[in-house]
Amino acid sequence: MAILVTGGAGFIGSNFITDWLETEGETVVNLDKLTYAGNRANLAALADDERHIFIEGDIADRPLVEALLDRHQPKAIINFAAETHVDRSIHGPEAFINTNILGTCQLLAAVYEYWSGLTQSEQQIFRLLHISTDEVYGSLPPDQPPFSEQSPYQPNSPYSASKAASDHMVRAYYQTYGLPVLTTSCSNNYGPFQFPEKLIPLIIHNALSRKPLPVYGDGQQVRDWLYVSDHCAALRAVLKSGVPGEVYNIGGLSERKNIEVVHTLCDCLDEMMPLKEGTSLNSYRQLITHVNDRPGHDRRYAIDISKINRELNWQPRETFESGIRKTITWYLDNQSWIAGAAGEEYSQWIERHYA
Ligand code: NAD
Ligand code: TYD
Repeated sequence: MAILVTGGAGFIGSNFITDWLETEGETVVNLDKLTYAGNRANLAALADDERHIFIEGDIADRPLVEALLDRHQPKAIINFAAETHVDRSIHGPEAFINTNILGTCQLLAAVYEYWSGLTQSEQQIFRLLHISTDEVYGSLPPDQPPFSEQSPYQPNSPYSASKAASDHMVRAYYQTYGLPVLTTSCSNNYGPFQFPEKLIPLIIHNALSRKPLPVYGDGQQVRDWLYVSDHCAALRAVLKSGVPGEVYNIGGLSERKNIEVVHTLCDCLDEMMPLKEGTSLNSYRQLITHVNDRPGHDRRYAIDISKINRELNWQPRETFESGIRKTITWYLDNQSWIAGAAGEEYSQWIERHYA
């Protein structure tokens, strides 16, 4: 039995594929457009593994998706494919509309056609798991309880609005056509293979290059940090035992202010990769620079995991402190990966965004 993963050359998708092959051992067909964020080096360890079939292509290419479904007859599809960086969505929303909204709609249409042609028992087994984000719920005031699956959708950025739109279409395919969909909304992930445009790998990368560490605005914004392997385990649990039509919130139980995250990274780096004594730079904290705030910046996200904990017996294993140490260790051991990811397009983005 095969599964189809979309966006599997990105950060979470590539971690998920490796995790799936280790735990379930079933063939994975990986459809990825290889945008700037897609990186085949994330899957280099699987180069000789016949259970990983890589296809370069777009989820919006319906004939291609139909042909893949026909050929591989997957029992499940996990849709990670998306444009994912809030700041890029502010600079240009179009790509987010094309992939996150229109691409997901094309994928849904192709999947529904495929599912309609399955036998009744195959239809019952089949699942489409759509990966969404806590950002669809908007910005949480400091005194409010974390987002539950009942929290209203109030997306504030072009990124979160496009994810919200795709979530609504996924829901509609369940309500209207009975397609067995599952949706997960998770908090900020971190860990190996994350593209260095996102806060944690950006700070590590800049610190190692002795560049300024940009903190937006007052740095008091709060995110709930989830180590990526905990996310992968949650997704396996949802695929195995989640109820079609349901949404499951996934979080790390690790709310931190951005400035605290950056301080933790600097302090760990001071210990793990000490700066040379006798120079003017004696702590990575000295590189912290407050820069202009992000327009429409959400102040806080936090996730209530009681539903997935109660119904699927999942909870995160990593604490923020243990996950951060693993993450820094990985980036220190894989500096060639980060050098490969941070190529020409990346330099242009950094130049344009932080100028
Ligand atoms: P990423 O940006 O690292 O990777 C996205 C991948 O999708 C890339 O490999 C890219 O090439 C591919 N892709 C983009 N457009 C495509 C298209 N039209 N067709 C096929 N492939 C395409 O993203 P990520 O951080 O791994 O996020 C994966 C999913 O998880 C996304 O749906 C995102 O919204 C969601 N999510 C991410 C986070 C996070 O903290 N990273 C948190 C919550 C939810
Ligand atoms: P990011 O990793 O882009 O994830 P998201 O915007 O999806 O939460 O950003 C995490 C937080 O860090 C967010 O509040 C914005 C902030 N941030 C900075 O302060 N500086 C930066 O250079 C970046 C990229 C993000």
